[in-house]
Amino acid sequence: MSPLHVTRTFPEDATDAALRADVRHGLTATPKWLPPKWFYDARGSELFEQITELPEYYPTRAEREILAARSGEIAAASGARTLIELGSGSSEKTRYLIDALPLAAYVPVDVSESALTQAAQALIADHPGLEVHALIADFTAPLTLPATPGPRLVAFLGGTIGNLLPAERTEFLTSVRALLAPGDGLLLGTDLVKDEQVLVRAYDDAAGVTAAFNKNVLAVVDRELGADFDLDAFDHVALWDAEREWIEMRLRSRTEQTVKVPALGLAVEFAAGEELRTEVSAKFRKDKVGTELAAVGFDLTHWWTDDQDRFALSLSVAR
Ligand code: SAH
Ligand code: TRP
Repeated sequence: MSPLHVTRTFPEDATDAALRADVRHGLTATPKWLPPKWFYDARGSELFEQITELPEYYPTRAEREILAARSGEIAAASGARTLIELGSGSSEKTRYLIDALPLAAYVPVDVSESALTQAAQALIADHPGLEVHALIADFTAPLTLPATPGPRLVAFLGGTIGNLLPAERTEFLTSVRALLAPGDGLLLGTDLVKDEQVLVRAYDDAAGVTAAFNKNVLAVVDRELGADFDLDAFDHVALWDAEREWIEMRLRSRTEQTVKVPALGLAVEFAAGEELRTEVSAKFRKDKVGTELAAVGFDLTHWWTDDQDRFALSLSVAR
């Protein structure tokens, strides 16, 4: 039997009901918004990988530093035989865990088929004994996991938890807890509150890669729903919301314009300067992480940061 299994529960093309419903709701709301999971087509995943290499984008390097230093401790504490990774992308940093844990199976979960299959194939080539069950799935929807040996460890890296709004985050963490048995683990990467300039630069880089990534969601709507968004007619905006402690990404219409979305029979009016909200990236403090995890049935047992205290990786155990 091949060690690679691929299961799809996320639709192959986005001409399906979920994208249509999201785009219709978002573009007819005040203020307008578009949900972030549609950023990650093949081009979006490629742009994200470029972001991870930008000098301004520290989270990937900081989290990699922690994983490199702590994977032995993580392995000793969790003893996981199945590693489930949500929003796994390239699985590049995960290699530290895969090398350290006594794994029988790795279950990467991502909406981006291109990122997921490339990552899975590369991993299998390097770890011939490892069973890889790749799930093309939305991690905010109910997940069915393959029957692989416990204990289980769920990894959610990259600070992606910050891309969920607070209510979504609680719902998400509750569903993660429901995937686990008492004693199983959750390894969570959270970016930390820090100087505003450092944060804003990480989401508004000089080379314009983050701007291209943010605008890619418009390209997805153009391709999948026949819309006529002109990417050059919008500016990338990244703002720090000091009260909510999150970075908010927006796209600002340069002029007054009307965008047609034929698949939805919509004509969307933008005023000059009007902003469309695309994504938040919440930043955390240790107390808040511990409290939110405790509320859904996890006990935080380990908290590790990089040497500049920019990013934290926490290990929690399911009660
Ligand atoms: N874990 C990687 C990638 C982080 S980027 C890292 O740390 O570098 C966020 C990843 O989550 C992308 O690969 C994206 O395709 C995926 N993603 C975003 N929303 C998702 C959703 N709702 N369900 C599943 N995957 C999602
Ligand atoms: N999880 C990443 C983060 O919050 C995703 C991300 C990085 C992102 N740069 C972005 C999302 C720019 C939207 C726009 O850091």
